[in-house]
Formats: sequence, structure tokens, C-alpha cells
Amino acid sequence: MKGAFLKCMKEMVVTQHGEDQWIEILTASDFPNKKPILATSTVPDEHFYSVLKTSQRQLKMGRRQLYDAFADYWICIYGPRLSPRQFEECSNSREFLAVLDHIHETVQRRVRGAKPPTLTMEWQSEDIMIVTYESERELVDLLMAMFRALGRYFNDDIERVEKIDSTHVRVGFAELVDISAAQ
Ligand code: HEM
Repeated sequence: MKGAFLKCMKEMVVTQHGEDQWIEILTASDFPNKKPILATSTVPDEHFYSVLKTSQRQLKMGRRQLYDAFADYWICIYGPRLSPRQFEECSNSREFLAVLDHIHETVQRRVRGAKPPTLTMEWQSEDIMIVTYESERELVDLLMAMFRALGRYFNDDIERVEKIDSTHVRVGFAELVDISAAQ
């Protein structure tokens, strides 16, 4: 996993829970806590997972709560700093999702060792998108948190994010509710 994910996690914990909590988390997890974290370095996935698990325990948060806090920080604060143009050029989450694979492809080409997921999106109807998640990792729950965060960032119509199985997610946009309410 790129160091950017860990740096983002650190920033989220330090700004929302305090530096002491972050030091406790590093001490209790497998991550060597004296090492500086560089965004472009590669951190073994196990270290990142261990930081996630320890953070849940240390911050007394459930998995969904922690993933939502991380995804909010990644999408609303860290992402716009990393790729400001993508966020400025899109005015809603549908537009952003249309370029997401391109963003991840660019990351993969430009950042050595980066292996972002491949996300294939198909519209099942006007308001329901089925996302196929291909990754060497099993982070579908984090993917779902990212969708929820994207809806919050654009303050728009991502209404429901449901897991179909470990590689498929259904994203429901607001009009879905309007249409069924009118029937
Ligand atoms: C400008 C916005 C974004 C940038 C720059 C970005 C970039 C990245 C980078 C650098 C990684 C780490 C890859 C690695 O360490 O190998 C990553 C992973 C990931 N990204 Fe994005 N991302 C963005 C937005 C999103 C959004 C909106 C979603 C989903 C809705 C998403 C889903 C994921 C997931 C689930 C992972 C975890 C890795 C995995 O499952 O294999 N990302 N992304």
C-alpha cells in the first residue's frame, strides 16, 4: 500500500483524536514508529491492516465507523490536495466516478509500486450502478466507505451503498427513491 494511505490515516487520527493516540496506535501495531512515512513509499499491506485494526481498538470505533472517518479524510481533505484538478473539474459524484478509473490508472502509471483497484461500473438502471471491484486486496468495505464519502463531498445523491459480495457493490442514487415513490 502506498505511504499516502498511511499518511492520510495519521493526519486523520492526529487532527481528530490527538498525537498521543497516533503514537499509541503505532506502538501497538506492527508499524515501526520511528520511520518517517513518505507518500510515495510502499508500506507492506500487513502494516496498514495492522494500523487499521489497532486504530479501531485504540479509538474505540467499529470497523465501519473507522473506515468512514478514513474515507472522509481521504476524499474530502487528502484527495483534493493530491489531485485538485479532478475535484475542481467535477461537479457531482456521477461525474467523478466517470473519471475515477482514469485517476487510478494515472496513479498506477506514475507512482512506482502503486496497485490501486480496478473498478468497473455498469448502470443497471438510471440510478443504480453496479461496481465490480478487482484488487489483490480485500478491501470492499473500504470501497463502500469511499462511495459514502464521495456522496458527502459533493453533497449529492449517493443514497445507498450495498455489498452484493466481496467483489460487487450496488450504489443507489437518489432518483431511485423518487421513481419508486411515484409508482
Ligand atoms: C482523487 C481521488 C483519488 C486518488 C488520487 C486515489 C488514489 C489511490 C491510491 C494512491 C491508492 C493506493 C494504491 C496502492 O497503494 O497500491 C488508492 C487505493 C484505493 N482507492 Fe483510490 N483514489 C482516489 C479516489 C478513490 C475513490 C473515489 C474510490 C472509491 C469510490 C477509491 C477507491 C480506492 C480503494 C478501495 C483503494 C484501496 C486499495 C485496494 O482496494 O486495492 N479511490 N487510491
